[in-house]
Parts: sequence; structure tokens; C-alpha cells
Amino acid sequence: MRRACVIGWPVEHSRSPLIHGYWLEQYGIDGAYEKQAVRPEALARFLGSLGAQGYAGANVTLPHKEAALKLAAVADEAARAIGAANTLWLDQSGRLSASSTDAYGFITNLNEEAPSWNDGRQPVMVLGAGGAARAILHGLLAEGAARIFLANRTRDRAEALARAFGPAIRVIDWGDREAALSGCGLLVNATSLGMTGKEGLDINLAALPKDAVVADVVYSPMETALLADARARGNRVVDGLGMLLHQAVPGFEIWFGVRPEVTPALKARVAASLGAA
Ligand code: ATR
Repeated sequence: MRRACVIGWPVEHSRSPLIHGYWLEQYGIDGAYEKQAVRPEALARFLGSLGAQGYAGANVTLPHKEAALKLAAVADEAARAIGAANTLWLDQSGRLSASSTDAYGFITNLNEEAPSWNDGRQPVMVLGAGGAARAILHGLLAEGAARIFLANRTRDRAEALARAFGPAIRVIDWGDREAALSGCGLLVNATSLGMTGKEGLDINLAALPKDAVVADVVYSPMETALLADARARGNRVVDGLGMLLHQAVPGFEIWFGVRPEVTPALKARVAASLGAA
């Protein structure tokens, strides 16, 4: 039996077991996907014995994503550019290998749900400068986005990302986030604002063109206030749940040998679990 797990602290909230469990059943694979609550100080030891514990690999969630990259013996280009890992596996020589599939998940979902986002090559607006924003910037640049406005409450963090990702990124003051929407083809919320239990994202969309796409990384609730506002004024919207589902695909394929499909039935299953949360 092949086994994988998600490692977090806490890990209880993770939807990964539901996603991978659904695919294991769907494809009739003799495998298991478990939750592992691992304290930060125990991560190195846990990963050092991943194979001995019988795991083919693991997903890594908060707060371990940066540490997991440092502990890996091999990392792919996305993990290095993003500075974090969310997917680990033992390669044929037993070396701990790392990838970050968040950019892949975001872009695959965006291209599926709203392929028009990059048609006119208009500027893109990204809000936030944490790990989610890093992954999204990496994905957007790899897709050829030529001009990206980046606004974050703490401007210094946005400046640091602009230095890391290069001249396509232009830092915008958090206070200017609304005015800067004029002419944008895509708005992405990569902050945690709007998540159940957190403050809402305060943004007036009046300046955003009606044919722009609005995407949120927040997936709980699935339809955030931002997406509801955007939808009401006629913008195409892309929710964060699609990104979550797509980022899980590469790991499942590596551990279990089948490239799984993100289907409406899977999305409905995970959405129902969020509703119940
Ligand atoms: P993650 O790695 O999940 O992206 P993070 O590093 O904690 O998480 O980043 C959260 C993002 O939400 C940051 O961009 C943060 O802004 P700061 O860099 O200024 O902290 C943003 N954020 C969180 N609460 C916010 C608030 N009340 N107003 C504006 N931005 C907020």
C-alpha cells in the first residue's frame, strides 16, 4: 500500500485528506492519505524518517512550508523561486525532494476558469505579499504577465517581493489600491482578508474594467465578499477552491502514479465540507 500525509501544525483544518481520499477511492488505488500534526521543532526529525514511517511523500502546510524547502535535498525551480515547498517525495535514491505546486494550481485553475485574463496583456493587480502572493507572482510571471501591480498593507514586504521578482512588478501603496485598478485585466486577492473569521477585504471595485477577471485565494467561504461584489457588477470570478484542488494534482501523481482529474463532483464534495465547517 502507498501512503502519503499532510504535515501541519495545526493540521486539523486541512482539506487535503478529503481531496486525496476522494481520488484514491475514485481510481481504486490501494493507498492511504493521513494527517500528521507535527510541531515545528519536530519537523526535521519527522521528514528525516519519512521513508522509515512508510510514506512515499507528503504535503506540507502552515507553518512548515519554508522549513520543508530548507530540509529537502532537492528542490524544483518553482519551490526555489517561491521559497517554500508544499509537496515532498522520496526520489529513487531516497532523497527528500520538494516542489511548490501553488503557482501551478493557481494558474491552471485561472486558465481553465477564465482564459481571457491575459488576452489583452493588461496590467494585473495583486494584493498581498505573503507566501500566497509569492506563489501567484511566480505563476503570473511564468505565464508571461508583463506588468504586475503589487499592493500590500506593509509596503516593505511588497518592495522585497519586487526586488526578488524583477522589473515587471510595480509596488503600489495600499492606499492607492482602488485607483490602480483602472485598466487592469485581473485582480487577485492574495491576502487572508475575507476568510471566515477574519476581517473583510475593503476595496471598491468601481475603477476596475467590467471585463476584468477577479480571483481570490481565499476558499472559505468559497464565494468571498470580493467575489460576490465582482460577480454582481459583471466581472468574471475565480474562487480559491479551484486553486486548492489543482495544487493537489502533482503530488497525487507522484505518490500514487495516476494523474487525477479535478472534477465538478470533487469540487462539490470539498465545498460541502467547507459549508459544514
Ligand atoms: P500567507 O503566507 O498565507 O500569504 P501571510 O504571510 O501571513 O500569509 O500574509 C498574509 C497577507 O494578508 C499579507 O499580505 C498581509 O499584509 P501584511 O504584510 O501587511 O501583514 C495581509 N493582511 C492580513 N491582515 C490584513 C489586514 N487587516 N489588512 C491588510 N492586509 C492584511
